[in-house]
Amino acid sequence: MQNGSVSVAFMLNGQHVQADVPRQMSLLSYLRGVRCLKGAKNGCGKGQCGACTVLVDGSAKRSCLLKVEDVNGRLVETVEGLARGELLHAIQYAFIVEDAVQCGFCTPGMIMATKALLDRNSDPTEEQIRKALRWNLCRCTGYVKIVEAVKTAARLIREGKTHLPVPRVASGSSVIGSSIVRAGALERVTGAPLFAADLECEGVLFGKMVLSGVASAEILEIDASAAHKVPGVVSVLTHEDIPGRKTYGLITKHQPVLVFNRVRMVGDPVALVLAETEEAAAEGASLVKVSFRELPGVFSPAEALRDGAPRVHPEGNVLRTVSYQKGDPEAVFRRDDVVIVEGEYYTPFIEHAYMEPEACLAVPDPDGVTVYCPSQGSYPYREQIAASLCIPEERCRVVYVPAGGAFGGREEPLVCIQAALGARVTGRPVKIVLTREESIKMSTKRHAEYLKYRTAASRDGKLLAQDIEILTDTGAYASGGGPVATRSASFAAGPYYIPNVRVRLSAVYTNNPTAGAMRGFGSPQVAFAAETQMERLAVRLGLDSFTIREMNALLPGKTTATGDLLGPGNALPAVIRAVKERLRDIEIEPSPEGMKRGVGLACAYKNVGLGTGRPESAGAILELLPDGCVCLMVGCVDSGQGSDTAMAQLAAEGAGLPVHVFKVRASDTACTPDCGITTGSRMTFLSGNAVYRAAQVFRDELFCAAAFVSGVSEHDISLNGQEILVRGEPLSLADLAGMLEERGRRLSVSYTYEPPATAPIPEVVEDPPADPASQRLHYAYCFAAQGAVVDVNPETGEVRVRCIVAASDVGRAIHPKSIEGQIEGGVAMGLGYALYEELKVDRGRVITDDLVRLGIPRATQVPPIYSIIVEDAHPDGPLGAKGMAELPTAATAPAICNAIYRATGWSPSRLPVRPEQIKHHCQGGNERADS
Ligand code: FES
Ligand code: FES
Repeated sequence: MQNGSVSVAFMLNGQHVQADVPRQMSLLSYLRGVRCLKGAKNGCGKGQCGACTVLVDGSAKRSCLLKVEDVNGRLVETVEGLARGELLHAIQYAFIVEDAVQCGFCTPGMIMATKALLDRNSDPTEEQIRKALRWNLCRCTGYVKIVEAVKTAARLIREGKTHLPVPRVASGSSVIGSSIVRAGALERVTGAPLFAADLECEGVLFGKMVLSGVASAEILEIDASAAHKVPGVVSVLTHEDIPGRKTYGLITKHQPVLVFNRVRMVGDPVALVLAETEEAAAEGASLVKVSFRELPGVFSPAEALRDGAPRVHPEGNVLRTVSYQKGDPEAVFRRDDVVIVEGEYYTPFIEHAYMEPEACLAVPDPDGVTVYCPSQGSYPYREQIAASLCIPEERCRVVYVPAGGAFGGREEPLVCIQAALGARVTGRPVKIVLTREESIKMSTKRHAEYLKYRTAASRDGKLLAQDIEILTDTGAYASGGGPVATRSASFAAGPYYIPNVRVRLSAVYTNNPTAGAMRGFGSPQVAFAAETQMERLAVRLGLDSFTIREMNALLPGKTTATGDLLGPGNALPAVIRAVKERLRDIEIEPSPEGMKRGVGLACAYKNVGLGTGRPESAGAILELLPDGCVCLMVGCVDSGQGSDTAMAQLAAEGAGLPVHVFKVRASDTACTPDCGITTGSRMTFLSGNAVYRAAQVFRDELFCAAAFVSGVSEHDISLNGQEILVRGEPLSLADLAGMLEERGRRLSVSYTYEPPATAPIPEVVEDPPADPASQRLHYAYCFAAQGAVVDVNPETGEVRVRCIVAASDVGRAIHPKSIEGQIEGGVAMGLGYALYEELKVDRGRVITDDLVRLGIPRATQVPPIYSIIVEDAHPDGPLGAKGMAELPTAATAPAICNAIYRATGWSPSRLPVRPEQIKHHCQGGNERADS
């Protein structure tokens, strides 16, 4: 035994293990690094996420908190030990059939926590299930389908079905509207290596960033001499090692890859240490000395806009202004026959908190580099990486690796350029995996916004005018802050017809962490303000929450605030009605004594796709493979929302082939088409159209090819399931592929879809527009309505959300369970926004720098969620479908806040709503908000 090592012996998945390990090595590091068991994941490394859960003597334990020596003489089980040969454990089986797996990063930990529960109690109540899972965070599912999966597994186990065959993908081609087994679910429930941190590579170096740690400064000197002396450190890179562009950015390319003069936020990377081991890299990074001259900074939009304020960027502190006017709001506000409601609101920065922190593997080759990473689009990453490496884009390949959640936070290559740079400089593969704290400091956030509203209505409740001013805190760099600002401005008035609207917005740079795209893309902030205004107005007028919204709802034939004349396939009245009816049917226990009940409603809408006049397209390629499968190559990425499955379903429908023959390959610059970023709820519409149409062409080509190899007419060809019939005689797809190859041919089809043209927001909006196309801001919109039932304790301020009813307008449901999962996950995120979550900063420093302080909701905090899918086919969507995954997040917070208002008479104007605020206001600390 070496000095500093310890001998351990224990049982691991039924095998006896004896080893000498470093004394301080965590069980998680041992399992992943030494045993190559990648099922246990590292989402935080400090016991907060549960992604690393394993069983020790039958109890669920977070393996990041245990040392290997802690399990000496004990029995350790990991997710890899659950299956028996070809048979899955009942829990794994149930997670697949209940569609409880989205990104899958939390899944192995959830499964092991479930096993610990069911091994001691095979008939748990829902409360017991949620309690057992309270140490395991999931950011995707809202826990609804996970709880269902646990119940299903418990039933199977009680029936003696402890192990079952892998559920099969449906074999038919008509699978639209069917919740078939998700692509990739099997790998996720078995803990197969999938994510970037799971990838192994011979000779790999580990990269560790040195972050600025200050919010505003000038760098005087970087001294890496001590780091170089650490055994195992191979190189320390600074901006001087970047041969090409030293900055990056999705739109404005001004964010430093490695800081070269000016620090603008605490998460700015200054240097990259490359070493043979993670430990050496971390030690090296801790020894890099950076000398700064601190500079005055600005930490709120108001501060940044003051005369003489320090400049975050040489060109000034305003990233974008958006301003438009429809009608004459001021004339309405001057009238004495209108009711006016005014409000000022604040929404905080929010962390995406995808469970998988950023990670990347870059592998050099003589010509260039291949980068494996979770992204929201490989092509935009490639452009940014190649520019910094100063190599042609064709010599940089970017391959999408499944992301453990994204929610808009992976639009830019946070660690990939640095990893690729390290690979080029050293000639060795480089892997960078951020810690949770680094991820929180470096990654983009949902914008904090300051909103001012004035709303005027007639005395019978018709909206007449709205005047809105918004300041968004876009942080240190532009990222997606410009488009987010445009979206906030576009949807600020809410999903209502208002003849007179004025909106003025400024997106302002500060020395806070960078804000960018996040689920909802500027709509959750304005939905909170607009829906609070609606509720205050309803209370003032003595109207109920439904009536005021129904009488003002945007309908086909009406114009939005920006003047877009709505067409068919927009179902706001239907989602409101659906919520009203479901709320009426749900039986909820009466409020406990001393609690006050309130029911709140909120609606929201947002764009599908980029729109605003920007060129957009998406492509799809289908290719017959020698084994008879069809490779479906698409640019969109599946980070848990289920797009791989939906694309396969659309391909099956278009081609008339069984869905299981389609193998989806997503976002690999070596072979898939470029369709930009998977963002803005655009891919079901764009890639879906491309896939469906390509599949229709593929079917025609299939008939031609079969006729060609058989020497018959196309009229003699028909399809029968997976087989082609040539004059009634079967010809398998594999045989056809072989016969084509013999003739030097292959069957490959591509299609590029371009959506209807759109236009930017006009400064002066026409209503109705003389030329509707000139004000067509987006080619599609989605709508949502949500109802929340809460009980509030006015003495303590405690809020118990009893249930959320959430209806979403999806056009056409391709995979209903995936859509429910998006609604449930979105609602859970909205619940966090309402009551728990906030990325707090103090003069640019992040205070809430871990998952607990951030307030990410746990299974015990998420109430029952009743999701309702409303179908109203969009004329341009693939089979009527349109995107919907972001919007559920927007309506939840205002629905909960409006329920608090209805319960207590106090209407919140800041998120998140804290118990102490409620208590203060309920005890007369402030006048009623509706007064
Ligand atoms: Fe162990 Fe998060 S990695 S709890
Ligand atoms: Fe749970 Fe993504 S499925 S974190």
